[in-house]
Amino acid sequence: MKTVLSGVKPTGVPHIGNYFGAMKQFVQLQEQGNELFIFIADYHALTSVHDAAEMRANTRSVALDYLGVGLDPARIALFRQSDVPEVTELSWILGCVCPKGMMDRAHAFKDAQAKNESVNIGLYTYPVLMAADILIYDADLVPVGQDQKQHVEYAQDLQEKFNHTFSCDALKRPEPMIGALSATVIGLDGRKMSKSYDNTIELFEPKKSFDKKIKSIVTDSTPVEEPKDPENCSVFKLYKLFDPAGAPALAEKYRAGGMGYGHAKNFLIEAADRELNPHRERRAKFEADPSLVEKILADGAEKARAKACKTMERVRKAVGIS
Ligand code: ADP
Ligand code: TRP
Repeated sequence: MKTVLSGVKPTGVPHIGNYFGAMKQFVQLQEQGNELFIFIADYHALTSVHDAAEMRANTRSVALDYLGVGLDPARIALFRQSDVPEVTELSWILGCVCPKGMMDRAHAFKDAQAKNESVNIGLYTYPVLMAADILIYDADLVPVGQDQKQHVEYAQDLQEKFNHTFSCDALKRPEPMIGALSATVIGLDGRKMSKSYDNTIELFEPKKSFDKKIKSIVTDSTPVEEPKDPENCSVFKLYKLFDPAGAPALAEKYRAGGMGYGHAKNFLIEAADRELNPHRERRAKFEADPSLVEKILADGAEKARAKACKTMERVRKAVGIS
């Protein structure tokens, strides 16, 4: 059993790429019996979201999304980052052993600077807070997308620097978990599905517009009767994610000819329904019960905080602050 930790920024609604690339992985790690800490990174979102109503609505919506896909609050801790204020204390302490040059090299900050966006100190020191997130829960594994790998490496560097500076073993080394998340989900236009390409299908999009988007997936103009190449078709690629076991049978239909892309899209809609209907129903149930969701987040924070407080006792002792 490993301690697995990941954070999700409450900005934007998740799409199918996020689901297969990240969210589903969390559920699998949960099913394997790991100790999971999944939090909504509201402090990190604060680097760009400066509207209280928007922050509250996004936070709630992300909690519903993750409960919807099957994170089980009885087995894991699902919580708001800001409900464990010790993490900002650790962030300050780590900042005091973090060379400034490390932050100058961080991608998120460099990207913002390259785009001439204004950079606040929160964005500049984003990776230090993220290292605190990871180290405060003694995480063994941190499942993240490729874009976050550098941040996890910073957490490793800061863990080493801290233990070395204070001649202690207060903080545990975490490892990024990238491989399992690297398969790329294709979007409506055949490119990587991404908010920035505007080619996404939202995970919890109402069924009507979900189906409409599937119908709009770009395919080639091979006539119905002719054989088709499944591996070159976005519809098939998506189908394979929703129904791996049924994919060879559909591939056969592609190669045999006589099936149009419209038909393939219908098969895809059916497969998506089989996978997503339970998620849609579960999300709707939680959505109808806001006080339950609040309680789940509060309980999650309590579990997380118990662990964070233990780490902070070691950290404070190591640095000589009581
Ligand atoms: P976007 O590209 O839409 O902005 P994010 O960067 O917010 O998506 O991604 C959040 C998580 O979802 C990351 O772990 C990322 O690796 C994963 N992810 C995003 N898009 C895809 C995709 N098309 N295929 C697989 N995983 C994805
Ligand atoms: N920076 C991550 C993202 O943008 C979110 C995040 C915050 C996170 N703290 C974390 C991820 C700790 C993993 C571990 O996606």
